[in-house]
Amino acid sequence: PAPGWTTRSDVVVVGSGIAGLTAALRLHAELEGSGGRILVVTKDVLSAGSTQWAQGGIAAALGPGDTPAEHETDTLVAGAGVCDLAAVRALVTEGPEAVRELIALGTRFDQTPAGELSLTREGGHHRDRIAHAGGDATGAEIQRALIAAVEAKPGIEVIAHALAIDLLHAPDGGVAGVTLHVIGEGERDGVGAVHCRAVVLASGGLGQVFSQSTNPAVSTGDGMALALRGGATLRDLEFVQFHPTVMYLGPDSQGQQPLISEAVRGEGAFLVDDDGHRFMLGQHELADLAPRDVVAKAITRRMHEAGRPHMWLDARHLGADFWERRFPTILATTREHGVDPVHELIPVAPAQHYASGGVATDLWGRSDLPGLYATGEAACSGVHGANRLASNSLLEGLVFSRRIAEVLPGELRPWQDPVPDDRAAHVVPADARPRLQEVMTDLVGVLRSEDGLEEACAALPALAAETGEVGTLAWETTNLVVIAEALARAALLRRETRGSHWREDCPERDDARWAGHIDSRLVDGVL
Ligand code: SIN
Repeated sequence: PAPGWTTRSDVVVVGSGIAGLTAALRLHAELEGSGGRILVVTKDVLSAGSTQWAQGGIAAALGPGDTPAEHETDTLVAGAGVCDLAAVRALVTEGPEAVRELIALGTRFDQTPAGELSLTREGGHHRDRIAHAGGDATGAEIQRALIAAVEAKPGIEVIAHALAIDLLHAPDGGVAGVTLHVIGEGERDGVGAVHCRAVVLASGGLGQVFSQSTNPAVSTGDGMALALRGGATLRDLEFVQFHPTVMYLGPDSQGQQPLISEAVRGEGAFLVDDDGHRFMLGQHELADLAPRDVVAKAITRRMHEAGRPHMWLDARHLGADFWERRFPTILATTREHGVDPVHELIPVAPAQHYASGGVATDLWGRSDLPGLYATGEAACSGVHGANRLASNSLLEGLVFSRRIAEVLPGELRPWQDPVPDDRAAHVVPADARPRLQEVMTDLVGVLRSEDGLEEACAALPALAAETGEVGTLAWETTNLVVIAEALARAALLRRETRGSHWREDCPERDDARWAGHIDSRLVDGVL
C-alpha cells in the first residue's frame, strides 16, 4: 500500500535490543554535533526483544588469567571452521572494553564478595568469562540500563509499535528509506515512509520460523527478510542453533518456551536419561559443558533411542539457597510450570534458540547494499560460524554496533528521493504461520535429511504464493515464509554435518567441499 505519512531522519535503527540501542546511543554521540537525527523503530515496546530474555550473560576475557586469544580459540572451535577470523578477533579484543562501557552506562553486573565481577562458565568455554546480572536476568538488566540511557537523550527519537516492512531505494540502487507499519502512534498510524540516508538493522532473529523456540513472539526475521527483498545478501542461514536445555512443557506447547540457561550446567547441573545415566560423560572432554551443538545432538540421540520426548536436567544438589540467589528467574519459571528443581529433575529438550546467520556484513557492519548496515542477531558478521559460542551474542551486538557508529557518520549518503521499484513484499495470510512452523520444525529442525529438506523446499513456495490482508501478523508471516525458504534451501545445499547443521544423510564434516559460506545469492530460487 502507498504510504499514508512520511517523515525524515538521517539514520533509522530498526530494533531496540542491545544491538539497536547501542547503535543509537553511539551514533547519537557521533552525530549530535552536526545535528544528525537518529530514529529508533521497534515493533513492540523498547524492551520486547530477545535481549530482555538473555539469562546466562555476556562473554568477555575479563577474568584473572583469561585472554582474548583464549576466547578467540573457544569461539573458533565452536564455529567449526566457518568463523571469519578477523571478525572473531575484533569481537574478543574489543569485548572487554565494550563490557566496561556497559558498566559505565549503569549496568549492574553481579559481583563477588570482594567487589570483583562475578564470572561463570558456559558450554564451550575453557574459562570462567561470563558476566551476569540479577543471577540469571542479565539481559533484562542490560536492557534496563540501555533504555534509561536512550530515554535520557531527547535527540534519539523512538517510534514504538512500528514494523519495518521494506527498504526504499535511491536512483543509485542504495538505501533511501524504509516503509513502516505503525499501530496507533498518534499521527503516525498505518503504513508510512521514513526517508533517510542509512538504515541499521538490529531487528534480531527468526525463532518464530519454528514451532518451539526460546525467542519471544517478536522474533520473526523481519530485518533479514526486508534485507533479502531489498537486494542485500544473507549468509549462513542454515546454521540455526538449538539450545540443548529448554524446559519441555508437553507435545502441544507452541511458541516461546522456557530456557534453562547453560549457566545452570556451568554451576554443576548435569543431564541424565530416564535411568539416571549421565550420558554426556565420555562424549566430549567438557562433558555437560561441551559446545551446545554437541549437547543438543547427544540429547536428541538419547531421546530417539529411548523413544522419549525429552531428557532430564539434574540440578537438585545446587540446593535451595543457591537456586534462589543464583537462578531466581529460572526457579520461578520452573515452579510456575509445576517443577521444583530443588527437589525434582527438570524435563528438557532442544528447541530453536539462535540464528547464527543473517545479513552478510563486513567488519564494520556494512551489508553489500549501500546505506544498509546490520548488527546483532540480524547480521552475519562472521563471528559465529556454524555454531555460536554461548554468551557471544550480546557481545556481538555490543561490539559491532560500536563499530558501525565509528564508520557510518563518515560515509553517510547524500539525501536522495526514493524511486519506485517492484521489490515490495507480497503479503501472505497470517494463518499460514502454523503450517509454515510445522514444515520447518518437522523437516528443517535439529535433524535434517535430503528428502525432508526437498519436501520443505517444495511446500514453502506454495505458502509464499498465498495472498493475505495487510496487517502486522500478515507482514510477520510474510517475512517468516521468505526466511524459511532461504534457510531450507541453504540447508539442502550444504551436504555435510557441521556445527548446528546436522544432516542425517551426510553425517561427516566435509572441509574439502564445505568450509565456505552459503550466500542467499547462490541459492537457487531465493532471489
Ligand atoms: C544461556 O543462558 O544458556 C543462553 C546463553 C546464550 O544463548 O548465549
